[in-house]
Amino acid sequence: MKKIEEYFVPWVKGIPMYISGHIELAWKKPELHRMMSNENPNPPSEKVLEAIIKYAKMSNRYPDQGLVVRGKIAQINGLGGAENVMLGNGSSEVYDNIFRCFLAPGEEVIQHTPCFGIYKLRGTILGGKMVSVPMIYKDKYLHYDATGIIKAITDKTKIIVIANPNNPTGNYMDAKDFVRIAETGIPFIVDEAYVEYAGLGMSQVGLTKNYKNVIVTRTLSKAYGLAGLRFGYAMGDKDVIGQISAALLPWNVGTIPMWAALAALEDTEALAFRVKFNNGEVDFITEALSEVADLVVFPSKANYILFDCGKTGKKGKDMVAYTESKGLIFRPESEKYGSDGWFRITIGSKEENRMAVDVVREFLTKK
Ligand SMILES: Cc1ncc(COP(=O)(O)O)c(C=O)c1O
Repeated sequence: MKKIEEYFVPWVKGIPMYISGHIELAWKKPELHRMMSNENPNPPSEKVLEAIIKYAKMSNRYPDQGLVVRGKIAQINGLGGAENVMLGNGSSEVYDNIFRCFLAPGEEVIQHTPCFGIYKLRGTILGGKMVSVPMIYKDKYLHYDATGIIKAITDKTKIIVIANPNNPTGNYMDAKDFVRIAETGIPFIVDEAYVEYAGLGMSQVGLTKNYKNVIVTRTLSKAYGLAGLRFGYAMGDKDVIGQISAALLPWNVGTIPMWAALAALEDTEALAFRVKFNNGEVDFITEALSEVADLVVFPSKANYILFDCGKTGKKGKDMVAYTESKGLIFRPESEKYGSDGWFRITIGSKEENRMAVDVVREFLTKK
């Protein structure tokens, strides 16, 4: 008799469950300040809470297919209608669903690194091969490399995924480079998880009207501040969205997140408040820490800021350990471009951001 282990498909066998250590730590020790996961420091608005309570009372019922909220998303983005929008249990599930529709074992996904880790997790679990094209580190800035991405295409490339703005760098790719990649015809996912911070004027959603291969993803986890609710969506051509939606798990998005999302999308004042707060705090931290000698501060249009303190002689992981000893959780980044000085800070409350600036200065100036 064969052992159960031998029945696992080879690309799943041996892969551990994804556990986010810093999020586990933050829940276990609520006294720590969460400045590591690009969450929103502001709790949900009253209107969102009202919707949550209203639909919690109907939790005995199955959700419908979400035509109302999908229609609202289409309207906000100038698309035809609900058929241009697919919902997911967070945008992480949206990638999973899209990847399953295009990727077979042995085929390739191009990602632009450093980037969000979920693309690799979902690609690998399907037996896909991740092809990582690095951004270019030059003049204290990480540049997108559209030419590098196009050069990495092979006859096995089934997906190209790019975040705009990118996590962790916080910057945007030039509009003309999106067109160059869209022109390849390869399924091209543009991850706009943080676009609301710079405004929808920066979105590439318009491309979906001319290029059926372009799919734009978003989430309510960031500027809308609903990470725990799990609500994301994809936008694209209606035939493409229809085909991808066929692979969805039935009832993948619950009644509560669906209606809470609608309330959040309608509550434009609450969004404007969160965006203004965030952008003011990004400016504060950027200015305060730009004065520190040899610290590279990456200009961000999102709710996090990337730093490279390699030239100060300190290590990013030591910075993260030091700030944790002071009660703040930052995010370490792997060694790259010959530097081990990388770390990322997520915007917190006003008080947390001031504490963060003090602790970073303290660490970098202490002998
Ligand atoms: C680039 C990027 N995309 C998407 C997400 C959001 O994922 P979700 O919608 O599953 O919360 C994140 C969260 O950190 C991210 O950094």
